[in-house]
Amino acid sequence: MQTPAPTQHRCSAVVGRRAVLGGALALAACRGEAQGQPAERGPAPPLKSVLPFPPGASVMTGQLDDPAYVALFTRHLSQLTPEWEMKMEYILRPDGSFRFDAPDRLARFARDNRLRLFGHALVWYAQKPAAFERIDGDPRAFAAAYRNYILAVAGRYRGQAVGWDVVNEAVAEDGEGLRDSLWSRNLGRLDHMRLAFEHAREADPGAVLFINDYNLESRPRKRATYLRLIEQLLKAGAPLGGIGNQAHLNADLAPGEFTRSLRELASFGLPVHVAEIDISLNRARGMFSSRADLEARQARLYGEVVEAMMTLPARQRFALTTWGLRDGDSWLTRPDENPRPPKDAPLLFDDQGRGKPTFWAVADAAR
Ligand code: G3I
Repeated sequence: MQTPAPTQHRCSAVVGRRAVLGGALALAACRGEAQGQPAERGPAPPLKSVLPFPPGASVMTGQLDDPAYVALFTRHLSQLTPEWEMKMEYILRPDGSFRFDAPDRLARFARDNRLRLFGHALVWYAQKPAAFERIDGDPRAFAAAYRNYILAVAGRYRGQAVGWDVVNEAVAEDGEGLRDSLWSRNLGRLDHMRLAFEHAREADPGAVLFINDYNLESRPRKRATYLRLIEQLLKAGAPLGGIGNQAHLNADLAPGEFTRSLRELASFGLPVHVAEIDISLNRARGMFSSRADLEARQARLYGEVVEAMMTLPARQRFALTTWGLRDGDSWLTRPDENPRPPKDAPLLFDDQGRGKPTFWAVADAAR
């Protein structure tokens, strides 16, 4: 995939294509682009018609009550990931019973709009539901409840879910080994993961079963431990069928780091899911003299992500999922969930649903 031409050449191309707008307007737009301002590019084409692999986004049921959100989502995307309502924290009640109203609504929305449903997440160190904490230390009861939960949840969407994050964020943040968790303490550090994959396979023989983690680009030791874990699980016979790379990135990530990381993750020959991408502006703010330069760097990084995906064989390009649809939908701008100030703009669409320079960088990188 050729790298995007430098701005001046791209501008001449824009002027060529924009003859209908009148050269002056297009040139003015180009001049803006040359100084890092986005040139007006007209209405954003459906992303799912531009990318040769499924674009997706995380969703919460509350967002489905917004007709503008639904129109934007169904115009551009072909896959959805429940942002939190298919996790234990929603489904598993303290008394051990399950509630499926919200995940079922998301699954119905996916089915009604011919969207792929990607399940997230069966086992996560960050979830410590009371129903499991109550049997912490009772291995037989714990193992039975663990299998029962995974069979019930993955089994419920059998034949609809195209894949699952079976194990989420198992590697220690510093890369020194694996995280301790309620799951590892009761069922074993590696065995709880092998069991999770086996139970998920039993529940849904057709879903691609993923492991998933983050900061793989910025923490090479963590990435190395992740790669070793994948190797160990495959050797142990776990039906691990895909590799998730959350890609919660910062705009200051050095050019090439994402590409290097993705190449290593893809070395197993398995499908790779860029599963939760957003590119925060906040940490990199001080690096750039202007907001336009900062946003241009962010757009170039989105472009690198797609160019890196394009270098993979088609069978390994599972999907590109943004964590949120519009900037205002992002967890990064929800002050109750994230200490970062809610002034970030990490996604492809602004709050009016317009494609930002990040959208065009993704679309251009796929052409
Ligand atoms: O919507 C309810 C609201 O009605 C209620 O008043 C409030 C207080 O209980 O909770 C609200 O739900 C919260 C939900 O986000 C929506 O804001 C949940 O409590 C909260 O736990 C949930 O947080 C999610 C978090 O994972 C934990 O599940 C975030 O939205 C979600 O963005 C985040 O996503 C994770 C991925 O799963 C794994 N990778 C990292 C990523 C970001 O942390």
